[in-house]
Amino acid sequence: MVNLGDTFPDFTADTTIGKIRFHDFIKNSWSILFAHPADFTPVCTSELGRVAKLAPEFEKRGVKLLALSCDDVLSHEQWIEDIKSFACLETTKGFPFPIIADEKRELAVKLQMIDPEEKDKDGLPLTCRAVFVIGPDKKLKLSMLYPASTGRNFDEILRVVDALQLTDKKHVATPSDWKQGGELMVLPDVKDEDIPKLFPLGVRYRQVPSGKQYLRLTPQDDRW
Ligand code: BEZ
Repeated sequence: MVNLGDTFPDFTADTTIGKIRFHDFIKNSWSILFAHPADFTPVCTSELGRVAKLAPEFEKRGVKLLALSCDDVLSHEQWIEDIKSFACLETTKGFPFPIIADEKRELAVKLQMIDPEEKDKDGLPLTCRAVFVIGPDKKLKLSMLYPASTGRNFDEILRVVDALQLTDKKHVATPSDWKQGGELMVLPDVKDEDIPKLFPLGVRYRQVPSGKQYLRLTPQDDRW
């Protein structure tokens, strides 16, 4: 199991852009590895189409995308045409990110992405819909595991990238449902005396029945 803060394991894999070594592929970028149970399946097709449409947004944030599905490269290449058609993407253009061929499920097993609850037509456990967000230091920053039957919300994944990139640089946390530009919360380990230096736009203290001064809110600085 890869835990938050662990260096994400390196591996080599065949993909739609040839053989890659993961750590060389991501270099010092933020990256997202997201897994799929199989090619030519409806939810996976919708998900990969959505990520292909959002690819410019991930690129703006400096995030390298890498998908995985448990079939071979030839199958992926044929499936990509269906994905492009389903998502109404320009068919003459290539595909914006590579897809790993994990037909033997070796990587799915190594990264503990097998869901014993959901089985394929042969009764074998399916690979779940895992999402791993990895930082430029190659450490795992966030992971999500969804069962094969539940499609992911990639707007949420973009939102968490924004939150992770912001909280990585500044002494802030993002409250529930935070979106880019929304109010932020000062981290509990920031001392009150350091606030003027760290938060020139000011901090407001929200009063609560306990009288404890832990709800410290600050606007997002446009320069962040
Ligand atoms: C799908 O992508 O639609 C799917 C794949 C495996 C199990 C359930 C759904």
